[in-house]
Amino acid sequence: MSIWAIVPAAGRGTRVGSALPKQYLTLAGRSILEHTLSALLSHELIAGAMVAIAADDVDFPSSLTSLCGKPIVTCVGGETRAHSVLNALRASSCTHAVVHDAARPLLSADDLSAVIAAGVSSSTGALLASPVADTLKLSSDSSHVVRTVDRSSLWRALTPQVFERDALIAALDSALFAGASVTDEASAMEFVGVSPLLVEGRADNIKVTTPGDLAMAEFILAQRS
Ligand code: C5P
Repeated sequence: MSIWAIVPAAGRGTRVGSALPKQYLTLAGRSILEHTLSALLSHELIAGAMVAIAADDVDFPSSLTSLCGKPIVTCVGGETRAHSVLNALRASSCTHAVVHDAARPLLSADDLSAVIAAGVSSSTGALLASPVADTLKLSSDSSHVVRTVDRSSLWRALTPQVFERDALIAALDSALFAGASVTDEASAMEFVGVSPLLVEGRADNIKVTTPGDLAMAEFILAQRS
C-alpha cells in the first residue's frame, strides 16, 4: 500500500479579499499551504504530496520540494476543484489518495489518523465530516423561509477524504462526463453508487474562505500552541 496526499490548490480564492490566492496568505509566519502540507506529511503513512496549482501560478515557492523528508510534487490543476483533483491523481502513482483542500490548514493529527484508518480499511473509502449544529432553513427566493429542514441526519463534508486512487479516478471521470455536480470526492463516489464512511472530525478544521476565516484560523492556531 502506498498513500499520497492529493492537494487541490489551483483556486483563486478571491472571496478572502486579497490579490494573492488564499493558499499563499500568511498564517503565523507560514503560508496556509505550508501549514496544510506540514499537517499531511507529518503522518507516518503519507509518503508524499501531489499539489495541483493553476497553470499561471507564480506564487508557489520553487524551494518547496519536500517537507518531513518527503517529496512535494506539483502538477497543473483544472477548471474546477474536481478537475484539479483528477489531474493530481493521474500524476501520482499511489494505491490510496488522501485528498485535502489546500485552504484547510488546521487539520489535526488525530483526525487525519482516524480518516486514513477508516479509508484504507473499507472499500467504500471515508471522509471527515461534522454533524450540522445550526437550525437549517429552506428558501426558494433567497429572502423568505419556505420551511425548516430536519437536520438530524445532515453532516457537513470536510476534508481529508480517503479513497483508492483508481476507484476515485474512475468515479470522477464518470461524474464529470455526466455533468454531475462534484464539489467533493465523496460526491463522485456516490455518483457511482458507493456510500463512503463518515468519520466525525473537529469542526475547527475550517476552510479559509473569507477574511473572517483567516482571523479565526490565527486565533485557533494561537490557542493550540
Ligand atoms: O474554492 P473552494 O474554496 O471550494 O476550493 C477548495 C479547494 O480547491 C482550494 O484548495 C482550491 O485551491 C482548490 N481548487 C482547485 N482548482 C480549482 C478550484 C479550486 O484546486 N479549479
